[in-house]
Amino acid sequence: MAAQYALPPKLQGMNASLTPFVPGQPSAAAQTVSIDLGDRSYDIAIGTGLLGNSATYAACPKAAQALVVTNTTVAPLYAKRLVQAISPLYQQVQVLALPDGEQYKDGATLNLIYDQLLGSTADRKTVLYALGGGVVGDMTGFAAACYMRGVPFVQVPTTLLAQVDSSVGGKTAINHPLGKNMIGAFYQPQLVVADLDTLNTLPERELSAGLAEIIKYGPIADMAFFDWIEANMAGLRARDPALLATAVRRSCEIKAWVVGQDEKESGLRAILNFGHTFGHAIEAGLGYGEWLHGEGVGCGMVMAATLSQRLGHVDEAFVARLTRLVQAAGLPTVGPDLGADRYLQLMRGDKKSEGGDIKFVLIGDAPLASGGKGPGSPCMTGAPESVVREVLASCVV
Ligand code: NAD
Ligand code: GLY
Repeated sequence: MAAQYALPPKLQGMNASLTPFVPGQPSAAAQTVSIDLGDRSYDIAIGTGLLGNSATYAACPKAAQALVVTNTTVAPLYAKRLVQAISPLYQQVQVLALPDGEQYKDGATLNLIYDQLLGSTADRKTVLYALGGGVVGDMTGFAAACYMRGVPFVQVPTTLLAQVDSSVGGKTAINHPLGKNMIGAFYQPQLVVADLDTLNTLPERELSAGLAEIIKYGPIADMAFFDWIEANMAGLRARDPALLATAVRRSCEIKAWVVGQDEKESGLRAILNFGHTFGHAIEAGLGYGEWLHGEGVGCGMVMAATLSQRLGHVDEAFVARLTRLVQAAGLPTVGPDLGADRYLQLMRGDKKSEGGDIKFVLIGDAPLASGGKGPGSPCMTGAPESVVREVLASCVV
């Protein structure tokens, strides 16, 4: 272990134990995961046939107007069905289709939402519906947080990544040329509707990107789930509805457990960023949209696990196991050569950095030699720059 490495502090915010993983799901029948945040609590409805069913939205806030925010790819697939389903709740439902792509997750595109709301004199009870992947969800949520200082919104995620991660937990944001998701707010939706049918139209590459965020939950919280993902990767990639239902449900359970204890990331919630410090650097370094977010996370997890191993928190066998799983999900395991200095510069700008010191989510709460628990128990810590440079040298093309 490197001499200047300080042992990681205990992560603050864990007050409850996670319910054990129950793998058996007889079918993809509707299930509900609840996220407990006091008066900001809400349900995540998971199942098939939900999106176009009016009953799904029965408890949503009623108002004169609703605005469905989507993009030019998702609108022709699902907007009509959603509008029909929610029409009984509103006098007027409008649809706004944004340009599609991470490169449009910016202030100019966000303004299109405000233009539409102001142009139709939307009042402060107007309900926004985010129909699409994480880009639409993050932007719509941020617009909802800001328009008239806050209007209600509902997440209708249509990518696997959005169903297992971005639609849940209330992180909303846009990108800035100098950093990803740097301008945003914590703002919780009223309801999340994860209709598994929408995953049937998802391109293969996007499905793989969602699998990265599912894999993430294993090493940070639940190695029984990790074993299950390993055993079922082929079926997940073949879009077996019952397997997808289990993966989405368990991912949401873990995310709800984390967010319910640390909504605004004063400690524990940072574990959801496993792989993201390296991954965000790849996304920003190559230019947003070149690598998918999930691809950055997949490769970033291999890099973060390698760093964990070099600091003694996990053994080589675990890194090899994780690398095989990321590869089996159809994701890259080797990073692009941005140059170590550029990686470090980008990672210093990460939201977890403190005073320019990069913080990493590592697997294993402490070095194994100091009694660390290994995979399933994470920590957040700094690392000697020399070791990070070694990791970059070994994990980059
Ligand atoms: P995305 O929103 O860009 O969607 C991926 C692609 O799939 C897009 O081209 C989209 O139009 C298309 N698409 C969406 N649904 C489809 C469907 N059912 N059928 C066919 N095509 C469909 O990407 P994403 O992976 O969903 O989300 C990534 C974004 O989420 C990033 O901006 C990331 O920063 C953010 N994110 C946020 C959080 C959070 O907690 N808020 C967590 C993780 C990721
Ligand atoms: N996706 C990271 C978080 O929600 O905190």
